[in-house]
Amino acid sequence: MSHYFAEDPALPDDLRTFAYYYGNQKFMLTSNSGVFSPGHVDPATDLLLKTVPPLQGSLLDLGCGYGVIGIVLAKAFGLEATLADVNRRALDCAALNCRQNDVAAQVVQSDGFAHIPGLFGCITLNPPIHAGKEVVYGLFAQAAQHLAPGGAFYVVMLEKHGAPSAARALSALFGNCEILYKKKGHRVMRCTKS
Ligand SMILES: C[S@@+](CC[C@H](N)C(=O)[O-])C[C@H]1O[C@@H](n2cnc3c(N)ncnc32)[C@H](O)[C@@H]1O
Repeated sequence: MSHYFAEDPALPDDLRTFAYYYGNQKFMLTSNSGVFSPGHVDPATDLLLKTVPPLQGSLLDLGCGYGVIGIVLAKAFGLEATLADVNRRALDCAALNCRQNDVAAQVVQSDGFAHIPGLFGCITLNPPIHAGKEVVYGLFAQAAQHLAPGGAFYVVMLEKHGAPSAARALSALFGNCEILYKKKGHRVMRCTKS
């Protein structure tokens, strides 16, 4: 069985283009097989997008998949965005989606922050739960190292995927973890770098 987080060049393409609305702004997005949430924006991703307040400065969309979070926030708030993922196929979609939506972003293949230098004003993450807790908590720890002072880390998680324990781990890392949204089994969390 093929999972979105595994590189599988043998997987046949299944390109799907669909619309996503952020307020009254329309985005055209293309997904492929082997990429997270093909053909529609994942409900948790949608919730994260609709919960984050207006942002400014630089944004890292960590584990960007086909790039919806970075593209939408970059366009909505005029941010300088970096879109990063370990999955080449996802990044090909992310690059296409940047072009399709007139967003100039850096698109980087990186396992965690291996190829992402510098500090960011905001980092967003819908974590790769299926990659395991070690990977997810590793991304949390690396994000804490790559935020500029005053910067914010936004994470969306399902309670059944361990959001309560993730909130405790994030509090220990950052010294704070606000729950911005908590309903229907979802949590959107914000940690601020002191
Ligand atoms: C739940 S998906 C979210 C995708 C996208 N942000 C969205 O909301 O539609 C998690 C993403 O993390 C990526 N990922 C998994 N392990 C990673 C790692 N070690 N470093 C960077 N990205 C990783 C996966 O390839 C996947 O695209």
